[in-house]
Amino acid sequence: MGPRLGVNIDHVATLRQVRGGHEPEPVAAALLAQGAGAQGITVHLRADRRHIQDRDVRLLKEVLAVPLNIECAATPEAVASVVSFQPQWATLVPETREELTTQGGLDAVFLQAHLRAVVRDLRSADIRVSLFVDPSLDQVRMAAKLEADAVELNTGLYSDLPMGSDPAPELARIKEAARLASRLGMRVLAGHGLDLRNVGAIASIPEIQELNIGHSIVGRSVLVGFEAAVREVLLALRDGAP
Ligand code: PXP
Repeated sequence: MGPRLGVNIDHVATLRQVRGGHEPEPVAAALLAQGAGAQGITVHLRADRRHIQDRDVRLLKEVLAVPLNIECAATPEAVASVVSFQPQWATLVPETREELTTQGGLDAVFLQAHLRAVVRDLRSADIRVSLFVDPSLDQVRMAAKLEADAVELNTGLYSDLPMGSDPAPELARIKEAARLASRLGMRVLAGHGLDLRNVGAIASIPEIQELNIGHSIVGRSVLVGFEAAVREVLLALRDGAP
């Protein structure tokens, strides 16, 4: 039994936003992921709403049977939105407008006073809180001190290692951080940049209970689904007008 899988559907919404229309529908993708066995759905509700929209979150909360996890910045506006949507989980992440994707983990040590209040507000709204942090023992200790229910260890550095370089030191950092987080009583997740090639070593760390994977699943789905999509159009051409 490996870890549970949370599927991040942000980039289904990215594809929709490119044309500003209705397709592909992220809620449909979430239901397909759930049907395929995913144990959770994650969305990042960014301040600039560049992919996931409020309406997506509202619908997801209504239709999903698996827990919904909303990633957001620790700002008053984002936290108020998350509270209004009442997901089962919120994951606090650093967020800047210029980034293409989340860059690095939260500095929970530097931001401790601010994060303490945000974690308390979310928890008192009955939302469990995860902090996305780099795999550092100081960050994990601080997350426990701030009474986070979980930490999500950033696997970005591991995933971005150049081909041929030794992953052992970064894997050791992730393992040690996972062990400490588990010992401190938090749920342990990991994610960022995971794909079919690099996920095995992370999935076999026993303390890691869940992985959040997005881009590689959405990217792969374009390839494994491409033939079927072309065949559907060919059938429609052959059948002609109804
Ligand atoms: N975890 C967090 C906190 C993230 O911000 C992201 C990216 O939105 C992911 C996991 C998923 O990363 P990826 O899309 O690279 O699989």
